[in-house]
Amino acid sequence: MLTGKKILLGITGSIAAYKIPLLVRLLKKDGADVRVVMTPSAKDFVTPLTLSTLSGNPVLTHGFDEKTGKWDSHVELGLWADLFVIAPASANTMAKMAYGIADNYLLTVCLSAKCPIMFAPAMDLDMYKHQATQQNIKTLIERGCIFVAPSSGELASGLCGEGRMEEPQKIYERIKAFFQTKQNFKSKKVLITAGPTYEAIDPVRFIGNHSSGLMGIEIARAFADQGAEVTLVLGPSSISVNKNNVNVLPVTSAKEMYDAVMALFPKTDIAVLSAAVADFRPEMVADQKIKKNPDNDTFTIKLVKTEDILKSVGGLKTDNQTVVGFALETENGLENAKKKLHTKNIDLIVLNEMNESGVGFKTKTNKVSIITKDDQVSTYDLKPKNEVALDILNAIYQYTN
Ligand code: CTP
Repeated sequence: MLTGKKILLGITGSIAAYKIPLLVRLLKKDGADVRVVMTPSAKDFVTPLTLSTLSGNPVLTHGFDEKTGKWDSHVELGLWADLFVIAPASANTMAKMAYGIADNYLLTVCLSAKCPIMFAPAMDLDMYKHQATQQNIKTLIERGCIFVAPSSGELASGLCGEGRMEEPQKIYERIKAFFQTKQNFKSKKVLITAGPTYEAIDPVRFIGNHSSGLMGIEIARAFADQGAEVTLVLGPSSISVNKNNVNVLPVTSAKEMYDAVMALFPKTDIAVLSAAVADFRPEMVADQKIKKNPDNDTFTIKLVKTEDILKSVGGLKTDNQTVVGFALETENGLENAKKKLHTKNIDLIVLNEMNESGVGFKTKTNKVSIITKDDQVSTYDLKPKNEVALDILNAIYQYTN
C-alpha cells in the first residue's frame, strides 16, 4: 500500500523518540522509502544507528557530512518527500516551526519542504496545555499541517494527562489514510475564482453581493488535497483559506479579477470560475465621498458592463484546457445553465438553484446539478460544501479522463 511512497521522518528531543524505530519498521514493511532527520537533542533518546539500520538510509542531523566532506541540501530532502512526518514533535520544535526559525537541520528541511507536514506532539501535560503551545499548534494546523493529537495517559514525568505521543501503530494508520486520498490532479495547474467582487461608487461605497466565497474555497482545498498546484483568485471574503499549498491572490473588483485570470489562464490546465462577479460597475467612480443633495430625492448611478471573465477564457481555451463555470439561477435553471454553457464555450457548468432551501451564498450546504458540454445532467443531493466540492472534482476527473 505504501510502496513507492517517500516518507521523511523528523525526530525531535522527547522521550517518546524511543518508539520511533517501531514506526520506521511498520512503514518499511509496508513498502515505503523512509529517510530520517533528527534534531541534535533527539540523539539523546534514540540512536542514529538504530534508525539507519531500520530505514536502510543514512540518518541526517546536519547538512555537512564531515567524513565525506559532502553537503546534504535540505532543499533536496524537502523536495524528495511525499510526506514529512515529525514525531515526536517537541514543544520547542513546534514553536520554532510556527515562527519559521531554522536553527537546526530538521527545521531548515521544514522551511523548504513542498510536501504536506504531519506532526505528532509529545510533552508533559502542563507544557501541552500552555497557551503558547496551544497557539503554536493552532498556527501549524491553520497553515495546513496535519495534526496527530496526543493521547491521555501516564507520562514520563510520572504525571498522568494529555501529552503522550500517539502510538506508532496509530501514526502509521494516519499516514496510510493520508496516502489513500485520491491524487487525481497531481501536478495539474488549477485556477479558481471565488467570492464576490466590489465595484466602487466612491471612496466609501461599493456595489457588491452576498457571496461568502466558501464554495470556491472548498473546491481549491479539494484540488490541493488531490495533488494540484492551485491558484485561487479570491474576491473580498472573510474566510481564511488555511491551506499552505493553495496560492491565494486577493482581488477586489471584476476588473482586477479579470486581469489576474487573463495573466494566469495560458498556464492553466483546469479553470473553475465560481466567483459571483458583478455584471455591472459604475461608469464613473467619484474621487470624494458623494454628498446628499438636499434638493434631490433620487440619485442615479449609470452602470456599465464588466468583463465577462468566463466568456473570455471560454474564447481562449485550447483542447488541452478544461473550463468549468457556475450558473446561479432563480428560475428555468437547467435551460439557462445550458445556454450559458454553450454561449460561453465551456466544458462543464455547475448549476445552483437559489430557490431551493439550503442553497445559496450564506449557507454551508449546497445542492447542485452538473451539466457537460454534451448536455448530460447529473443532479446531486443537498450536502455540505466540502462534499459538493468533491462531487465537482469527480465530475471534472471523469470528463477529462
Ligand atoms: N462570470 C464571470 N464574469 C462575469 C460574470 C459572470 O466570469 N462578469 C462567471 C461566473 O463566475 C460564473 C458564470 O459566469 O461562473 C455565470 O455567472 P452568473 O452570474 O450565473 O451568470 P451571468 O453570466 O452573469 O448571467 P446572468 O446574470 O444573466 O444570469
